[in-house]
Amino acid sequence: MEVHEVALTISAVAPKQYPKEDLPEIALAGRSNVGKSSLINTLINRRSYARTSSQPGKTQTLNFYKVESQLYFVDVPGYGFAKVSKKAREEFGQMIETYLSTRRQLHGVIQLVDARHDPSDDDVTMHEWLAYYDIPLLVVATKSDKIARGKWNQSESRIRKGLNMQPDEPYIQFSAETKTGKDAVWQWIEQQAEL
Ligand code: GTP
Ligand code: MG
Repeated sequence: MEVHEVALTISAVAPKQYPKEDLPEIALAGRSNVGKSSLINTLINRRSYARTSSQPGKTQTLNFYKVESQLYFVDVPGYGFAKVSKKAREEFGQMIETYLSTRRQLHGVIQLVDARHDPSDDDVTMHEWLAYYDIPLLVVATKSDKIARGKWNQSESRIRKGLNMQPDEPYIQFSAETKTGKDAVWQWIEQQAEL
């Protein structure tokens, strides 16, 4: 999709604040600092529309970005962020779980992992959890610009193994720096959102 129009519609912490419309929603999930906001910016061709930061835990609400009046991207707060209190972490967790497990408009989740590392325990838990709820899932390995192209296959094997992925589960190598994988990610989104 060629994106010209995008608006941050709402930052929500509770279901009553979610958008009232019936547009399809695609959520981005992953550890703090993995690059969720950067992926959104890449998809909508903006340098810094969704707030990015080198400080983990910047995104703390569910942020709904309306794109071309056709769908919403939902920027989900990063999990596994240690610097907030335990109570705040539990509330984050609940907010995310409520959204992901009850939202009828949710057409798919993009789970981001760092291409350079083995998936963390949190990544594995999130992957299992999404599978349990039968939510269509795309794994995106981001920051791929930080590893040599010759190592991409190795990185994919490690991540697939770490997340216990079935061979037919979709996986895309991505970089917000070089835009590698952008078209493939859009293709998956358009298919899930039936655009
Ligand atoms: P939270 O909102 O804290 O959960 O983080 P986030 O997942 O939204 O991460 P964000 O997009 O803010 O990116 C975190 C840092 O990683 C920033 O400094 C980005 O510039 C950097 N980054 C994100 N994607 C890439 C990428 O593909 N390549 C490189 N080299 N850096 C990236
Ligand atoms: Mg963010």
